[in-house]
Amino acid sequence: MNRLLCAIFIFVVYNTESQNRNKTVGGLCQGCEAIYEHGTKVLKPIDTLPDFRLLPNPIKISGTVYEIDGTTPARNVILYVYHTNDKGIYPKKPNLKGWGRRHGYLRGWMKTDASGKYEFYTSRPASYPNSTAPQHIHITVKESDKNEYYIEDFYFRDDPHITNNILNRKNPRGGSGVIALANKGSIQVAKRDIILGLNIPNY
Ligand SMILES: [Fe+2]
Repeated sequence: MNRLLCAIFIFVVYNTESQNRNKTVGGLCQGCEAIYEHGTKVLKPIDTLPDFRLLPNPIKISGTVYEIDGTTPARNVILYVYHTNDKGIYPKKPNLKGWGRRHGYLRGWMKTDASGKYEFYTSRPASYPNSTAPQHIHITVKESDKNEYYIEDFYFRDDPHITNNILNRKNPRGGSGVIALANKGSIQVAKRDIILGLNIPNY
């Protein structure tokens, strides 16, 4: 009998662990696989996206990625960002592969170190052409022991098309994505901290 109980216990523990390993967090995420499209590039906490300083309105966005407790810096987290250019277009080039054909070439990848910090240099995106869509930067994250998932886009507090819905969002994925740019030298800078798993389904 003891052996039977022991076997049942092992079965339950094993199954729970394998379910945890296999569970998908964050729900469906079309295009999130683009986070793996960095090729041979060695990922660092800092990235500079293509055409930085060539496009108008250069910006730097930085912050710290935290574990779900909101205080422990999260290491080895990959971040993937992409956005439109100053015309509101995801600009393409003939040699783009994979999701680059949809996301365009204004994209970047970072990987946090023990400090959890990240930083990227790029240019401010514009709204989609002839639209009132708010300016935004898409972001996907990948933790070493989980599948990739998207979090709340970066939005700009001074964007004339920002909505109350975005500003007052109750449960933004990973925390609020609304950033406030400030002048610093010849560029504008903003901060956003990210909390992994916050408001992420199945986390
Ligand atoms: Fe978009």
